[in-house]
This record gives sequence, structure tokens and C-alpha cells, in this order.
Amino acid sequence: MSPEQFLELAKVLPEPLLLVSSKGELLASNQPVADMLGLRRQELRGKMLFDLVTECANDIIKYLQACSSSRAMILGSLTLRRNDGQTLICRSQGAVIQPWSAESSALIVLRLENRTVASNNFLLLNDKIEELAKEVQKRKQAELELQKANEELEIRVEERTIALQETLNELQITQTQLIQAEKMSSLGQMIAGIAHEVNNPVSFIYGNLHHAHKYTQDLLKLLQIYQQACPNLPLELEKQIEEIDLDFLIEDIIKLFDSMRVGTERIREIVQSLRNFSRLDEAELKQVNIHEGIDSTLMILEHRLQATQEYPEIHVIRKYGQLPNVTCYPGQLNQVFMNILANAIDALERSAIAGRWSAVNSTTIDNPQIEIRTEVINQNWIMVTIADNGLGINEQVRSKLFDPFFTTKPVGKGTGLGLYVSYQIIVEKHGGKLSCFSTVGKGAEFMIKIPVK
Ligand SMILES: Nc1ncnc2c1ncn2[C@@H]1O[C@H](COP(=O)(O)OP(=O)(O)OP(=O)(O)O)[C@@H](O)[C@H]1O
Ligand SMILES: [Mg+2]
Repeated sequence: MSPEQFLELAKVLPEPLLLVSSKGELLASNQPVADMLGLRRQELRGKMLFDLVTECANDIIKYLQACSSSRAMILGSLTLRRNDGQTLICRSQGAVIQPWSAESSALIVLRLENRTVASNNFLLLNDKIEELAKEVQKRKQAELELQKANEELEIRVEERTIALQETLNELQITQTQLIQAEKMSSLGQMIAGIAHEVNNPVSFIYGNLHHAHKYTQDLLKLLQIYQQACPNLPLELEKQIEEIDLDFLIEDIIKLFDSMRVGTERIREIVQSLRNFSRLDEAELKQVNIHEGIDSTLMILEHRLQATQEYPEIHVIRKYGQLPNVTCYPGQLNQVFMNILANAIDALERSAIAGRWSAVNSTTIDNPQIEIRTEVINQNWIMVTIADNGLGINEQVRSKLFDPFFTTKPVGKGTGLGLYVSYQIIVEKHGGKLSCFSTVGKGAEFMIKIPVK
């Protein structure tokens, strides 16, 4: 670049620019340089750089040489001697624009910058940076706060959702409990109704059976006396006696009365069991015989214990101890026996489907069975255990056994409330304990412990 070209370019730039030779000759400069020195541009013509600065010529030449032998900008410091006698410290940046040649020395452009202005600018920049840093900090803080608020909100939403879910679960349980209670109460009412209806005619038959028996015996005695008194009977009577096979009739009628008595007694027992089971009148605490409750529940389930085409008969083994009467809610306790016994029957049926009681097995002692044991633990507590020899319960199922709605049975078969309700009745209502023990493949045992009073 020639000094002329440089001037063309420097004219339009607002920064102070100088074009010097590596020997220090001032070749060109722009207006801002003249302003800095307090001179007119013409006054700068033909000057050497060291005429304008306080630094010695040697230092200046060294600096210019450094500029001319480097491709990078070289930073330096120049102290301008102003026309008004003042000095002005400048930062300079020098760069070679035309390297040294045989014909001419190197050409260097110097860009000057007032140090105080630069420093002020630097301070301003510092302030700006500080301000910005504060702003950034503030934003960060705001962001943190926002994030925290968000998190809190999320937690609150989650808590609300959990609370709602819990309420929903509780409502569902209450609803199903109500349905269950309603079903149990209608079942109880129906059973009580039937028991009542059957009871009257049966009592009637049972009461008269005794008299009928007595009258028949009287008539037979009379017949015997007749026969002795009149050994020669008319032919017509002889024929009739033969026709009705009188000897057999006399012998059989006694047996007949016996079996009628056994039959009606059985019906009376059943009716009594049905009444015991329903116990509609006993919503409050009563002193009862626990064995009666278990027996009447078994009576209701009797049809499920008998052999069918699919399942073998289920044997019930009762090992009853000497129990005192227990103060309890008898209807509810029966509901517990019902749930546990029904589960045991379900389990035995399932093990039948799984082929546990196949023909080979049924000849052995390993038959489906439910063992019910009762015993006194001490003065204040009694225990009832109900054990089946079904497929048992694995640990995973066992841990959820008493949870509401937990069932492994197909839809429509189990609601998963039987044991949950039983647990409430034993633990909450009676202050007792309900636990389960099982060995997988061998069966399950449910243990009920309740206080006598
Ligand atoms: N004697 C048992 N042997 C094996 N599993 C059992 C036995 N008793 C209970 N269970 C298991 O416990 C689960 C829960 O029993 P629970 O009585 O509470 O509900 P359920 O019988 O499935 O349905 P629900 O009694 O409401 O009709 C059953 O689905 C079953 O898997
Ligand atoms: Mg059940």
C-alpha cells in the first residue's frame, strides 16, 4: 500500500492511524492523529516519529523493527508530545503493510489509542461486565426459584393425586364392603326365612312321630292279642294277612319309624344350623359356642364337600378341644369361617384340576381334606385353625393375602375381599389375630386367635 492509498483509506476511519517507515519517517497520518497532537495535518509533514513522542529514538526504532519483522500486530506504548506542552500516553498497535525490500524500507501502520480513554473504556467495560454478571446471577437465581416452585408444585400435584387415589380406593373398598354386607345380609335373611318356614312343618312331623309310633305299637299289640284270642281266622282274613305279608310289615314298620325319626332329626339339625348361621338377631356381642358356628357353616357348604364328576369328596376332620363360650359377634365370626372354608375348598378344587388327586393318589391316604382344630391357648384366648392340603400359597401371594381386591381367581370367581373382610372382623372387631402358614405343594393353614371376652 502506498502512502496515498493508505491516506485514502485512513481518511474515512475514525481511529488515529499513522503510516511510518521502519526508520521512523512519518509518511502519512489522518485527522484524528492531528487532533490528538493538537496540530494541523500539514504541520506533520516531513516529521520523524521520534519528533512527536518523548521516548528516545533508539527505543522507537527497535519497536518499528519488531513491527516490520512480525506478521502479527505488535503492541507498544507511545507518549505523544502535544502542541500545548502536555503529554498523552497512547497504546499503539503496529503492523507491517509492506515488507522491507532492496528499494525501500518496510512500511508500518500504527494505530493509536488514548490510554486514559482506553482505561476508561476498560473501566466502563468492567462495570458493564459486572452489571451483566449481576444480571446473569439474578436470572440464575430467578431460574432456580422457578425450578424450585415448579418442583414444589409437582410434589403438591403428586400428593394431591395420591390423596385422591387413596380416597378413590377407600370408596371402592367401602362400596364393595357394602355390597358384600348387603349380600351377606340378604343371604342371612333368606336362610333365616327358609329355616323358619321349614321349622314349623318339621316340628309338626317330629312332634307327631312319637305318637304315631306309640299308636302303631298299640295297634300291633292289639292285633297280636286278637290272633291269640281267635286262632281260627276266617278264610278272608287269612287271605288278607298273607297278601299284606303281615310278619314282614310288623318287622318293617318299626325300622320305618326309626328311619323317619332319624330323618326328621336331621332336618331339625339342618334347620338349627341354618338359624345358627344366619344369626340375624345377633348384631351385638353374645356369648356363643364357636363349634356351633363352624358346624353350621360347614352345613351350608356341605354341597361343595361332596364328590362330583370333576372333584373327589373333601373330608372334613374336626379336632375340637374343650372351648368355653366366647363373647363375640357370632354372625360376623361365621362369615370368617365361611370365607376361610370356601377358600380351602377352592384351593382343593384347583389342586384337583391340577391332577393332585388322580386315581393313583385316591387309593392312598392323600385325599383332599380340611382339618379344623380348636383349642384353648390360655384363660383368655382361644384358637381355631383351618388347614387344607391343597397346592398351598407361595410367598408372593402370601404377602398380599389380606390386601383388599387381591385375588388369583378368574374374573367373576373371586373379588379378593374374603380375607380382607375376615382380617377386619378378627383384628379390628374382635381384637384377635389372623395369620396364614403355608408350604407350597402341601397346603395352607389359617390361624384365628380371639380373646374369650
Ligand atoms: N387355602 C388357600 N390355599 C391357596 N390359596 C389361597 C387360600 N386361601 C386364600 N388363597 C389365596 O388368597 C387369595 C385371596 O383370597 P380372598 O378370599 O381374599 O379372595 P378370593 O377368594 O380370591 O375372592 P373372594 O373371597 O372375595 O371371593 C385367593 O385368590 C387365593 O389366591
Ligand atoms: Mg375367598
